Amino acid sequence: MKKKLIAGNWKMNGSLDANEALLKGLLSGVGQPACQVAVCVPSVYLGQCQALLAGSVIDLGAQDVSSHEVGAYTGEISPSMLKEFGVRYAIVGHSERRQYHGETDGMVATKVQRALGSGITPIVCVGESLAEREAGKTEEVVKRQLAAVIHVNGHCISEIVVAYEPVWAIGTGLSATAEQAQQVHAVLRAQLKAATSNADRIKLLYGGSMNAGNAASLLAMQDIDGGLVGGAALKAQDFLTIIAAAV
Ligand code: 13P
Repeated sequence: MKKKLIAGNWKMNGSLDANEALLKGLLSGVGQPACQVAVCVPSVYLGQCQALLAGSVIDLGAQDVSSHEVGAYTGEISPSMLKEFGVRYAIVGHSERRQYHGETDGMVATKVQRALGSGITPIVCVGESLAEREAGKTEEVVKRQLAAVIHVNGHCISEIVVAYEPVWAIGTGLSATAEQAQQVHAVLRAQLKAATSNADRIKLLYGGSMNAGNAASLLAMQDIDGGLVGGAALKAQDFLTIIAAAV
């Protein structure tokens, strides 16, 4: 059976002291987990976190990656730069980047391509807004977002991780129910199956107010292969409880 993946997205949180305390807390409690574990940290802290996580079972991730490899792109960070810091994963197309930084489906698809080209596993985020859900457009939106990534990346698509993150569930405390999440995951799985014969090995994560209390029921669903965790990933005990639920 494929291992689940629990990835923390720290977003724009942390400090040298807070990161050290959080990672030490995680490392002291994580043991040999049944799942894969990663933390996606602000890029300025990659070096610090790489050192603290060296040789551990916790992988390092970034929260974004440039769609360019090198050159005059002020403020951008290339995948080969991330590789130098031992980065394994990069979140791509998070709704906060789509919303606040104007990232389009096309840009997200190119970033995925660039990450894959450097051996970084993109965690590709898709998800509908509350208005889109209420208009009955959930399927249409997530399929459009994923289709752009499939179109540009072809058979390499089997190397990505997908995270379904309904925008209305992010940071609100209002998680999708396990059934609601599974329904969308099944749609995404079918879409991936139409694109590659290896769709079953692609991990589909759920994100949006996943916490220590609801993780087990979400992770028990057939097509939910892990979680992308925001707020609860900032508390060692909560994140450890979620990791323990990912069997
Ligand atoms: P919360 O877990 O804080 O809702 O955030 C989810 C998320 O956006 C992870 O990428």
